[in-house]
Amino acid sequence: MTRYAALAGLGSYLPPRRVTNEELAGTFDTSEEWITTRTGIRTRHWAAPGVATGDLAVEAGHRALKSANLPLAPGAVDAVVLATTTPDHPCPATAPQVAARLGLGTVAAYDIAAVCSGFVYALATASAQIVAGQARRVLVIGAETYSTILDPADRTTSVIFGDGAGAVVLSAVPDADRAGVLLGVDLGSDGSGRDLILIPGGGSRERANGEPDQRDRYFTMQGTKVFAEAVTRMGGSASALLDRIGWPTESVDHLVGHQANIRILKALAQRLGLPEERAVVNVDRVGNTSAASIPLALSDAAAAGTLAPGSRVLLTAFGGGLTWGAAALIWPDLHVV
Ligand code: ACO
Repeated sequence: MTRYAALAGLGSYLPPRRVTNEELAGTFDTSEEWITTRTGIRTRHWAAPGVATGDLAVEAGHRALKSANLPLAPGAVDAVVLATTTPDHPCPATAPQVAARLGLGTVAAYDIAAVCSGFVYALATASAQIVAGQARRVLVIGAETYSTILDPADRTTSVIFGDGAGAVVLSAVPDADRAGVLLGVDLGSDGSGRDLILIPGGGSRERANGEPDQRDRYFTMQGTKVFAEAVTRMGGSASALLDRIGWPTESVDHLVGHQANIRILKALAQRLGLPEERAVVNVDRVGNTSAASIPLALSDAAAAGTLAPGSRVLLTAFGGGLTWGAAALIWPDLHVV
């Protein structure tokens, strides 16, 4: 029997501490004006010491299950997929712990590592499990605590990234013409750009290099090169997907791009030939939350009533790897929690 994966629940969670540009200007060699004009970010949220990615993922996962009217009980979902760059530990994956804490029983649970593209990659694998008949419902979470990997000596990355989590429930449906069905996914990578976004230490490469250096555990990014790649790759992936599913570009009502920088979102809309107003923006309030970025943007836009049921929504993300991806769906009637 042919089955499709449809969005059936959506939730998000931000840690309570809101960090303003003004606060950062008092700590780093930067200014409120530089951060606002170069990135569009005004505030971001940082988790309190001791709070880990799994904690945020549990909150967002709980809300997405509630949004889908599913209990915190075995049988609610058949798998939990967690996209993150900041797992609680290098080993094991964070998803099994999140599944257990949510009371979901002994379901399949695994992490996806595709940096800021992680959520789109996670959607793709979860949807494939449903289409293949391996799962009826999957909880897909994007969660990050970048504040734990930011180099205090790097003013550029320190002002960009924020913590948070967003989650969706994908559910099997029998036909493709229902609102919420993932109509297509495009994924890509180019490992020759590995060094543009890199945490040098903490993996097997560091062990081969000898003594660990604490600073090697910090996140590094070559911002200007990443900026250009982000616009090109998200634009290319989005266009390839639109061609494949037969949506004319101008028919897209809402472009939900990875919330990295307001200038990237504007350049992306321009490259695709869409009016800037169709780009969903919440980077001003949450900063770059990497794998949590897309579900947080969806959650904010749905809660604000921007994403009306029946509208055409195009998601696209870009991140370390390099990796990128896009997905498309007709927005369903959802109660966001
Ligand atoms: N405050 C003040 N000045 C700063 C700061 C700061 N926080 N950070 C950098 N500068 C300075 C630089 O030192 C440089 O000064 P110089 O001209 O005297 O050398 C100047 O500002 C310009 O620096 P650039 O790096 O060229 O600034 P740019 O305009 O490119 O903005 C930024 C930097 C915001 C990082 C931008 O390049 C960007 O958004 N890049 C893309 C990020 C992205 O897309 N990430 C997505 C993937 S991330 C992931 O996968 C985890």
